[in-house]
Amino acid sequence: CKVRHYKFHVVLKNTTRLCSSKAIVTVNRKFPGPTLYAREDDTVLVKVRNLVNHNVTIHWHGIRQLRTGWADGPAYITQCPILPGQSYLYNFTITGQRGTLLWHAHVNWLRSTLHGAIVILPKRGVAYPFPKPDKELVVILGEWWKSDTEDVINEALKSGLAPNVSDAHTINGLPGIASVANCPTQDVYKLPVESGKTYLLRIINAALNEELFFKIAGHSFTVVEVDASYVKPFKTDTLLISPGQTTNALLTADKNSGKYTIVASTFMDAPVVAIDNLTATATLQYADTLASTPTILTTPPPRNATQVATNFTKSLKSLNSKKYPANVPIKVGHSLFFTVGLGINPCPSCTAGNGSRVVAAVNNVTFVMPTTALLQAHYFNIKEVFTTDFPGNPSQVYNYTATPASTSSQTTNGTKLYRLEFNSTVQVVLQDTGVIAPESHPVHLHGFNFFVIGSGVGNFDPKTDPNSFNLLDPVERNTIGVPTGGWVAIRFKADNPGVWFLHCHFEVHTTWGLKMAFLVDNGKGPNESLIPPPKDLPKC
Ligand code: C2O
Repeated sequence: CKVRHYKFHVVLKNTTRLCSSKAIVTVNRKFPGPTLYAREDDTVLVKVRNLVNHNVTIHWHGIRQLRTGWADGPAYITQCPILPGQSYLYNFTITGQRGTLLWHAHVNWLRSTLHGAIVILPKRGVAYPFPKPDKELVVILGEWWKSDTEDVINEALKSGLAPNVSDAHTINGLPGIASVANCPTQDVYKLPVESGKTYLLRIINAALNEELFFKIAGHSFTVVEVDASYVKPFKTDTLLISPGQTTNALLTADKNSGKYTIVASTFMDAPVVAIDNLTATATLQYADTLASTPTILTTPPPRNATQVATNFTKSLKSLNSKKYPANVPIKVGHSLFFTVGLGINPCPSCTAGNGSRVVAAVNNVTFVMPTTALLQAHYFNIKEVFTTDFPGNPSQVYNYTATPASTSSQTTNGTKLYRLEFNSTVQVVLQDTGVIAPESHPVHLHGFNFFVIGSGVGNFDPKTDPNSFNLLDPVERNTIGVPTGGWVAIRFKADNPGVWFLHCHFEVHTTWGLKMAFLVDNGKGPNESLIPPPKDLPKC
């Protein structure tokens, strides 16, 4: 294994999309940002220099960060932000992971343009558990706002209303042929292929607020990995990728020539009115195809295609081979039940909604961001930054998915953590609620991979639903879409000391408070403790 050095300079860059220009925050003037390459067991050192007028942090989404929570990145959870003009060296080792992940800013809405791929190759001499592709390509899906995204969210917070949806989706930074008034021509990302070759597409959803379907006209995929965990290969013509999730899929260029449309379109089956933003398009293009050749089109699934989404997620199973076994925890130490959804918070000064404001919450606690990073507060024993009384269960049982739920809509504010015993096994049932309206929530856990042992529609039934849990080969990942008006059950081993964020990866829901944190604690010896904080760790 070796040490990989990267320099990330956070700088502005003028960028034009949809015929309108703005200065965006980038790493090294690249959008999407540079790909970070490493091998399993490598140590990665990334020197981040903040040369813009915003506070910055970078999160290495899905990297386990065993004992190195200082390098995880979420602002005010594991570190204070890197102030303008300052820098911080992220230092972590990649342990027991290989595949595709992503890095992104983890402060306010900066990740809209501050994101890129992490490609972790297997150890030298170790092959993929699937046929070796001829070539590998990174495909990053995103969203583009013509306005500055920091303005979009700040205005929404002032008004108490939902922020504007993006103006377009993007594929590798480009919206494609989306037709915008007075802007007929767009740059289209071209994915070049040669007939007969096989490609490993490393597809990342870096969008802020959209679960996305991904499809290529005339071609199908063989899915081999999600969230840097190998899966049992299966064929499909449509992928579903939630924000923060990654999917590795093999694509065989089995045509002789031609141009084929690639689409990235919204999946949203919540019964709420939302304006559709534009589907992104790109072109798969065979070598030696004449410029005049017409492009073969495809129709994306309807935005509310629940069945297409469910078929995809139900097909995901851990590879569970001898070499890559799925070690699902069988005995459960902590059994938790978290409602995730929107709620109402009393707010005397709010004009919208009769002195209340729409918030989001986990077990009706709307998380309040501290002003000191929680990990420092924990490590240095700084009092009154957080409490450890996060409820492991809702305060009352109600019909979670009824719309609107008659009870338990009111939330409380707090910086509450849930304490997990080091090395204990944890089961969390995540239950969507219809308190305002049911909606899917891609929930991400920092510091761990978890197994997705079950899911269903409606209210989780603790008597019957556990009978159908898959403890043999459930998919292992770091972000899971809680279905609209339904639930998922996850299990993991709390083998990583530190403070670990759990939140909805829809940035708008995180902003509204759909977040909490686990404190994994022990104090029992060097191998079970955090390493000491680095000297250049930013201060609040
Ligand atoms: Cu990808 Cu806490 O985020």
